[in-house]
Amino acid sequence: MPSSPQYDSLQKQIEDRSALVGVIGLGYVGLPLIRAFIDAGFRTIGFDVDQSKVDRLLAGESYIGHIPSQWISGCIEEEQFTPTSDMNRLSEPDAVLICVPTPLSDSRDPDLSFVESTARSIAQTLRPGQLVVLESTTYPGTTCDVLLPILEESSLAAGEDFFLAYSPEREDPGNPDFTAGGIPKVVGGVDPRSLALATSLYETAVARVVPVTSCEVAEACKILENTYRAVNIAMVNELKKLFDHIGIDVWEVIDAAKTKPFGFQAFYPGPGLGGHCIPIDPFYLSWVARKHGMPTRFIELAGEVNTSMPEYVIGRVTAALNEAGKPIHGSKICILGVAYKRDVDDPRESPSFVLLDLLRQRGAVLSYNDPHVPQLPRMRHHQVPDMASSELTAKFLQSLDCVVIATDHSAYDYDTIVRHAPLIVDTRNATQKVKEGREKIWKA
Ligand SMILES: NC(=O)c1ccc[n+]([C@@H]2O[C@H](COP(=O)([O-])OP(=O)(O)OC[C@H]3O[C@@H](n4cnc5c(N)ncnc54)[C@H](O)[C@@H]3O)[C@@H](O)[C@H]2O)c1
Repeated sequence: MPSSPQYDSLQKQIEDRSALVGVIGLGYVGLPLIRAFIDAGFRTIGFDVDQSKVDRLLAGESYIGHIPSQWISGCIEEEQFTPTSDMNRLSEPDAVLICVPTPLSDSRDPDLSFVESTARSIAQTLRPGQLVVLESTTYPGTTCDVLLPILEESSLAAGEDFFLAYSPEREDPGNPDFTAGGIPKVVGGVDPRSLALATSLYETAVARVVPVTSCEVAEACKILENTYRAVNIAMVNELKKLFDHIGIDVWEVIDAAKTKPFGFQAFYPGPGLGGHCIPIDPFYLSWVARKHGMPTRFIELAGEVNTSMPEYVIGRVTAALNEAGKPIHGSKICILGVAYKRDVDDPRESPSFVLLDLLRQRGAVLSYNDPHVPQLPRMRHHQVPDMASSELTAKFLQSLDCVVIATDHSAYDYDTIVRHAPLIVDTRNATQKVKEGREKIWKA
């Protein structure tokens, strides 16, 4: 690979840690990434269009559970981290990592408007020697077909003047075993120099870098990982319904199956899919497939099964209350957990909001508890009541007709919950170890 002055200079800045690392989008992905690069010895600058987030960071306040406020204030004081909403400063960083949202539109097509507007902001200040890396999850082709043309409107050439790569984020929120720096990172570049620079940069901050031959391979890799999860979760969700019907406990079956030392990976059923990735990303791929006239039946079927799960849970709640001689209408029902998974504060796409909608439509008297979500947030696709998390006192639990465990936060004391609540519908097998009062537990 022929070297060039821009390439050589950035390689040197990466090696001696004098490169300034910029991250656009200071959310669940962007903020931990800033942390990984600060830990690797770089100074960083973080960009976000949400002024309230920038203000909170400048005040030394974290809004992400596993990033401590004290760490943020320390980094700002030491000038290792500068948060800003001023996109004119995008010419300052030597590497610019894009971590903006990639949601679905109302018609469930990819919504790349955040990526496109970010690319336009970068193009306005792009200067020779900058490395741009897209980290947002997206369909194969986005970096070369969407990002590259916008950046080249600057009249600079990729691979010569500036460098462009794709490297998907693999955050696992709430999992203490994996921080951003401990997870291997796949990297694809639009040309060999871009690949080499992005590889060098990430090698400073993460345990292992896996270079691949193109941005498209790296983009497809991320979608494969998430589609794999969506399909396997759908499979165990479907088996849960079947096994329940014939009197077999699906969780016991999975625990037994996972003793097989090869060829089996355990996935667990739940009340439906949640989070910003698994319910959304596979549909980026089916959109590409549709453009090519090809079906993605696994993705569609998994989506169908997973979105049917809240209705299944409501069926179990109905049956459980019915056995106690009560209708849903007028029953006091408390949802435990509105975050989409254990021990996180992220409510995006959480099936708990579908459960709340369905129960409200049936006339239940609703409450919720979530130690990580003190107040119900507004959600685009749900009518969310203005409600604060109820404290799980013995008196409160006794006053209910039913508790629905939607998210198995480890802060919950399941023995106490089962002791005091009259009826428990458990969608996560969270009460597995509870010994007393099991007759009150309905798995769902
Ligand atoms: N959350 C996860 O666990 C996770 C894991 C892997 C991949 N991803 C992917 O990473 C990307 C980001 O996800 P997230 O969870 O961090 O989202 P997020 O909503 O938490 O954060 C995105 C941030 O980008 C900001 N933003 C939006 N448009 C902007 C713009 N034009 N310029 C600057 N900032 C802008 C938003 O204000 C927000 O703070 C998505 O593509 C997502 O699919 C997320």
